[in-house]
Amino acid sequence: MFTSTLLPPKTALPSDLFGAIADLKHELNAVILAHYYQDDDIQDLADYLGDSLGLSQQAARTDSDVIVFAGVHFMAETAKILNPNKLVLLPDLAAGCSLADSCPPDAFAAFKAKYPDHLVISYINCTADIKAMSDIICTSANAVKIVNQIPADQPIIFAPDRNLGRYVMAQTGRDMVLWQGSCIVHETFSEKKLVQLQIQHPEAEAIAHPECEPAVLRHANYVGSTTALLNYIQSSASQSFIVATEPGIIHQMEKVAPHKRFIPAPPVNNCACNECPYMRLNTLEKLYLCMKHRTPEITLPKATQQAALKPIQRMLEMSK
Ligand code: 13P
Ligand code: SF4
Repeated sequence: MFTSTLLPPKTALPSDLFGAIADLKHELNAVILAHYYQDDDIQDLADYLGDSLGLSQQAARTDSDVIVFAGVHFMAETAKILNPNKLVLLPDLAAGCSLADSCPPDAFAAFKAKYPDHLVISYINCTADIKAMSDIICTSANAVKIVNQIPADQPIIFAPDRNLGRYVMAQTGRDMVLWQGSCIVHETFSEKKLVQLQIQHPEAEAIAHPECEPAVLRHANYVGSTTALLNYIQSSASQSFIVATEPGIIHQMEKVAPHKRFIPAPPVNNCACNECPYMRLNTLEKLYLCMKHRTPEITLPKATQQAALKPIQRMLEMSK
């Protein structure tokens, strides 16, 4: 799954990739949307950088002809669902997501059939097929807000992330039927090492993404989406933070608060597995090549696109 797509053969790369990408952006009338988990240089050249909610909102309002999505497949797919007539490019089509993979459409259809009275709320980290089977989409930024808008007597299925689901249940006091999916990156943080770091740095606040395990979240001073974490470190009086999410976000944190200190939360093993292996498949070179060759592009069957659009539009309405 982490295998990168091959570069087109014999494509010479320009010496000034930043300049070449700027030229192609102009030529294509393209917008570059990027997630915080991308490499620093991609973050630096993006037209818009954000969390999944912000990126969906930007995709819904862009008037560019081409959307270049520096993120993972489900994010670019969401942009395509919102813009079926635009060209949506993803620098590496193998940039998937373990959460999306943890929810195969056939198995989910069978699961859903067991709960015919339930409303289906799906985290945006899922495939278009799962979105097409859902009533409302949510992101980590608006999941609590959306669940709070559902009448108390309406039973809910929440998919695919059990950790976000458990977090939303704790925040809202709602019981929900959870699909048991998870993110390989956020499950890697070690509670024991986090607590050891907190003892070493008693002045630091721990901040975490809700995809982390409950054992990690219970030690966090603040839990939120990537954009919410970025906002929090600016508003907090604290001068140092232990960051339990993909460390790509630290590039922005250091930019907006250069005098503050950010310590990545450690994974269980001494590996780099707190970096998302899917997000990191995209590189500046592949970004340039996808714009030059206008491929790989995201395509979707029309029926899936139309069915998946409704729950995304519902999310955008309910997030206002
Ligand atoms: P955000 O909603 O914070 O963008 O999270 C997306 C994601 O993939 C986290 O792993
Ligand atoms: Fe998916 Fe986890 Fe990577 Fe986010 S960090 S894209 S949830 S694998």
